[in-house]
Parts: sequence; structure tokens; C-alpha cells
Amino acid sequence: MAGRIPKEFIADLLNKIDIVDVVDSRVPLKKTGSNYVACCPFHNEKSPSFTVSPSKQFYHCFGCGSHGSAISFVMEYDRMEYVEAIEALAAQLGLTVPHENTSSYSKAKTVSPDLYQYLVQAANYYQTQLATATEAQNYLKKRGLSAQIIQRFGLGYAPAGWGNLADQFAVELHPTLEKIGLLIKNKLERYHDRFRERIMYPIRDQRGRVLGFGGRITNSQANADQPKYLNSPETPLFHKGSVLYGLYEAMQSTRDLKRVLVVEGYMDVIALAQYGIPYAVAAMGTAATRQHLERLFRHTSAVIFCFDGDNAGKNAAKRALETVLPLMEEGRQVKFMFLPESHDPDSLIREEGLEAFQVRIDTATGVGEYCFSLLQQDIDMSSMDGRAKFTKLASDLIDTIPVGAFRDLMITELGKRARIGQENLAQLAKTPLSPSEGNKQANGTIKSIRGSDGRPTPMRLAIALLLQHPDLIQLVPHHWQTLPEAMPGSGILHQVINLIREQPTHTTAALLEWWREHPEYNQVSKLAAMPISIPDGGVNAEFEGVLQQLMKLAIDYKIEQLMQKAGGEGLTPSEKQQLQQLIRGMKE
Ligand code: UTP
Ligand code: MN
Repeated sequence: MAGRIPKEFIADLLNKIDIVDVVDSRVPLKKTGSNYVACCPFHNEKSPSFTVSPSKQFYHCFGCGSHGSAISFVMEYDRMEYVEAIEALAAQLGLTVPHENTSSYSKAKTVSPDLYQYLVQAANYYQTQLATATEAQNYLKKRGLSAQIIQRFGLGYAPAGWGNLADQFAVELHPTLEKIGLLIKNKLERYHDRFRERIMYPIRDQRGRVLGFGGRITNSQANADQPKYLNSPETPLFHKGSVLYGLYEAMQSTRDLKRVLVVEGYMDVIALAQYGIPYAVAAMGTAATRQHLERLFRHTSAVIFCFDGDNAGKNAAKRALETVLPLMEEGRQVKFMFLPESHDPDSLIREEGLEAFQVRIDTATGVGEYCFSLLQQDIDMSSMDGRAKFTKLASDLIDTIPVGAFRDLMITELGKRARIGQENLAQLAKTPLSPSEGNKQANGTIKSIRGSDGRPTPMRLAIALLLQHPDLIQLVPHHWQTLPEAMPGSGILHQVINLIREQPTHTTAALLEWWREHPEYNQVSKLAAMPISIPDGGVNAEFEGVLQQLMKLAIDYKIEQLMQKAGGEGLTPSEKQQLQQLIRGMKE
């Protein structure tokens, strides 16, 4: 997905706008010294700990830790997607956002805005049809849906027949309607309705625009060879892997979504809403993807996964766990809840009512607890073997969690459960937990370079200082590229150095933005915001000291590697010479 909008454009945009204006127009700022402050819009507070730095073009709240560029601010504050936020900021400057060709995104965005209009027309048509379709109405009545909830979710009906919807539009539009999944072109090049004799569920994005439909049969006997639900295919507007059914409706019902329940089906979302839980969304039968969850976390900090009690549900829960762990950033809360067998949320809330269902939500299992109990399930924890196996499996999972309090807690808990001594645990916390994963990510990742005492390591400090004070580039020697690539964090450090050398005018915000769609974004963004207490004027000296430490570490690292090779497969003559030089250099 990376590279849809050229990075140069984004950097240029960040150079042209002023984050102070962007924030101030939404949250009035007060000037103090060289920065601006306000009460943080992202958490409740009485005295201001939200600061905006015009020189870094960066905001940071010392209370809740939120931070980022002007783009991040608009995403957070206006609850926009990344691309939307860029477009909003660009529009303010009268700039058109360029898109790199080939990507599906550019196709999606160059389609005419009318496409949305046709989908709304179709939704309206299906709604009017429902008003006169007795059988469909009876079906919905039998399912216990109120008129109000039918209205709120915009349900409709696609009548029997092949050309009902097609006839609502001019023939010239039929190819376009095919493109958005409403019509199908047959072998004779004739267009016909995709949805026939089905209850229609419009699927909306978080802004309320109809993107596609789900259609349910009402008479399963007569259509035994048909799928129960027919969904819109992937279209330039509808991407099943990132749309959440019910998110728009949930946002309509409350301004501030304290939590969101993730369920499986259309009917679950609708029944829950009717019975008093208007904050459920569905990934429409598929496993929730990373994009789904990232979208959700933009609107809420607490997600509760709700699964059927059967085997399929348990497997789905396991997959959800693996998807969500890498997204467990500070302040996010995730829980898992399992329903009694042969129930879905729809049938259960009808049977036991709102209060009992609410209790289930309130007593759902925390993600950490679920993770460990899942792993321990088939393991004999009383044996050493069992605990070793458990440690390996748990380490693999914990390794995917971003650095932070939750990860630390999980490591501590792992130690308790596997009865690992304090010392070994400190070791675990310091290095990548599982060597295989760690090695794969070694080039660039810096999650393993936290010092054991919690103080930033020289590598982190070097990256943080450069991100926050790009001027320090003047102190970086030109042969810097000789840092071993495999040294944790060196990939990121080299990249920061290259970026600043190419674009000396880049601010902290512009540098950070380069990582936006990379797996390391969160780590780099934390370093960009990391408080570094250095007295004014001491920054240069601090940075020079850190560089020296790093150089020394790099030499140690190279010696270590060569020694290892010497003890194993042996060294080439030139490597031997290199080793001697390095050791001599150390003594000098
Ligand atoms: P369910 O079979 O649990 O559907 O599938 P449901 O929502 O409970 O619907 P009712 O109660 O039978 O009316 C869960 C979800 O899986 C997708 C749909 O999104 C459905 O809501 N699905 C299911 C399909 O896309 N196609 C199918 O044929 C079946
Ligand atoms: Mn159901």
C-alpha cells in the first residue's frame, strides 16, 4: 500500500503548511516561549500538557502521549484516514494530491464522484421496493426487526426479476453500474441485476457513503443452491478487507465511541443495535484484518471481539489475537468474549436480554489473559519441557507487540507463568524474544535496543536527537555508513541521516512522515516524541558523545562477529587483517 502518494509531495505539503495554524483552527493555542500549548483534545485535563512546536512542526501531549505531524493531528482530531487527511490539508492550500499510477488507490480516487450517487440511488430504490414487498416485510417481522431499526440501517428489498434495477438507469450507465457491482454482464454482453429476491443491507463507510450491499435470501428452501448472503464484489469503492459494517451507524448513535464490539454478521450488528448495544460492527463473515482494526482504533480505544462458542469461533479468535497484538499500543484495550455454543449475538440477546448480554461484555477476557490461557491449553505447565515450549510460543507472540507497558507486562507475566528467574527475564526483555523473528527484522528494527535499566540506548538516543534536531547532521561524519547493517536500529539511523542529507530543510514532522506506512512507524514516532532532558546548548555535546559511543559499539560488534566466524567457519585473510586492525584500534 505504500507509495500511493509520492513521499516528496507529502514532505512538500508539510513544509508548506504550518501545524500551528492547523491545530489552532481546531483547538485554540496559547504561546509560551518558543512553543504553543493547549488543554489536550485527546484526553480530559484541566491544565495544558499539549504542546505544539513550530520548529519541529510536531505536537506532543505529555499527559496522554499522543504526538505526530499535522497529518497525524487531522487524522486524530477529524477522525480521517491517512489519505483523507492529506487531501484535506492539500485542499486548504489549493493543491491537488498527485497519485502514483498503477495502484488501486489511484484508480479508486480517479473514479467520478457520481459512483457514490448511483449507489445511493440503488439504496433508495431497494428501500422503496421494501415498502410494497409483503413477503420481505414478513420475513423481517419474523426476524423481530422494528420499523425504526430497518430505517436506521436503510434496509431494502431487491425484487424478483433480472432488470428491475437496470431499468432505473439509462442504458449508457450500465457499464458503470457493473463496475460498482450492481449489474452483471452476461455472455451475450447483456446487463442484468446482480441482486434479485434479496433483503438488501447497504454497506456504508464511516462517512455514511454507500459503498456496496449485502443481500440475503428470504426463502432458503426455494434457493437452496444460492448463497445465503450475496455481497458486492470488490469494486473501486468497496474493499471488503477494510470496510466495517455498522461503523457509520455506531458513530451516528454516539459521538464518542467508548468501545466497539466486533461481531460476525449483518444481523448481529442490527439486532444488537435494536436491543440497546448500538456499538457493534461486523467484518462481514471474514476475519478482521489489520486494516479493519487500524480503522477501528481511530474511532475507539477499546475493542471487544465477540465469537461463537464453537470451533470455528475459537479458530477465528486465535487469528484475531495474532492480528491485534502488533496493534497493542499504549492506551488501547482489547478483550475477547465467547458466546455459548449454537448462539450468535442476534439470537442470544433476543433470548437473554440486554442486561445479561451487557454482563458478558463487562466480564470479557482481557487480551493478555486470553493469550496465555490459549497457549497453556494443551501444555503441561508442571513439567520443565512444557514450560520451555510455552516460553517459546509465548515469546513468538509477545515479540509482535510494540514496545511499551503492555509488552513489559506480558513479559513479566510470561516469567511468572513459566517460572523464569528475574535475571533470565531481564535478558528476554532486552533481546528480541524469539531469535528467528528477531533476525528477520534486525535490519532497522529497534525494539530490541532498550537498555535493561530503561534508559535509552545510544542508538535510540542518536535517532531521537537527529529526528528532533535535524541540524545535528553537521556533526555526523561522512564515513558513517560503515555502521554494520545488522546492528539493531542502524537501518533506521542510516535512513534518517540520508533523508536529512537529501533534504536539509526537513522538520521532525516531515522526517517522521517518511515512515508512515512502514512497520517501524510507531517506533520512529515514539523516538520523535521522546522527551530528552538536556540543558539548552548541550545538545551538540550530547550528540557527539552518543556518536562516539555508537562508533565504539560498532567496533565491538564487528569484532564480536569476526571472532564468532573465526571460531566457526574460519576467517578469510582480509577478514583476519580487519580483525587485527580493529583490535589494534581499540588499544590505541
Ligand atoms: P451468518 O451465517 O452467521 O449470518 O454469517 P448472520 O449475520 O447471522 O445472518 P442470519 O442470522 O443467518 O440472517 C455471518 C456473516 O458472514 C457473511 C455475512 O456477512 C454474514 O452476516 N456471509 C455469510 C456471507 O457473506 N455469505 C454467506 O453466504 C453467508
Ligand atoms: Mn444469525
